[in-house]
Amino acid sequence: MIKNSGLNVPVVTIDGPSGTGKGTVAARVAGRLGWHVLDSGALYRAFAYAARIKGVNPDDLQGIVDCDADSAIIFESIAGEVRIILAGEDVTDAVRSEEGGRAASVYAAVPAVRSILLARQRAARKPPGLVADGRDMGTVVFSDADAKIFLDASPKVRAERRYKQLKEKGFDVNLARLEKEIAERDHKDATRTESPLILAEDAFRVDTSHKSIDEVVEQVMGCIRSCLRVRPVKSTKPGIVT
Ligand code: C5P
Repeated sequence: MIKNSGLNVPVVTIDGPSGTGKGTVAARVAGRLGWHVLDSGALYRAFAYAARIKGVNPDDLQGIVDCDADSAIIFESIAGEVRIILAGEDVTDAVRSEEGGRAASVYAAVPAVRSILLARQRAARKPPGLVADGRDMGTVVFSDADAKIFLDASPKVRAERRYKQLKEKGFDVNLARLEKEIAERDHKDATRTESPLILAEDAFRVDTSHKSIDEVVEQVMGCIRSCLRVRPVKSTKPGIVT
């Protein structure tokens, strides 16, 4: 039985703390299904970046609302890589840094920011289907999702993965410091009042600590198939929606 409502467009949610491979797994699963993919963390990162550039503090409600009106966040796929364009400027590198993640976590705890970004995330639900990754995809944004996955891994493995990822992108990182920063960010995300990072009771928890990306993708596809019961038809036009 497919239990999506409203637009009748199926959604798969992939939540979990940082460094569990959500982004990579979501992109691979979306590719396999031929569905769209939503990287909700990138929206929070880009919003926080815009707010900081404009000098808008997290407690400045009017500033947050104005900031939303001014900030056109666009995701573009350039040479196979997703770039984040904010008001015409490519801000991908700044937004993807660990500092960008910390800033996102601060603004993400503000209810006004979450409600602004909620509509944008829900608008990403377009045919033939959506794979959405984040922290509250299955609990809040798409609580009626057809399949809910929660990826997890030990703190050490997550820090090592993030370290490798940031190094590959050319960032200057220190593993011990990164481990501490990730633990702080996850604690903040999991203990905030508004949409905290929690395991939805109807989600499949997958521990990725000792699994390759291929193994995780296979396991996630298995969960999705068992939830959808029918193998979804592959679309000819997969893409990124924002
Ligand atoms: O997933 P990513 O590391 O890019 O997310 C950056 C930050 O954005 C998270 O640490 C979290 O504070 C926030 N976020 C959120 N809800 C989401 C996605 C991200 O609060 N759905």
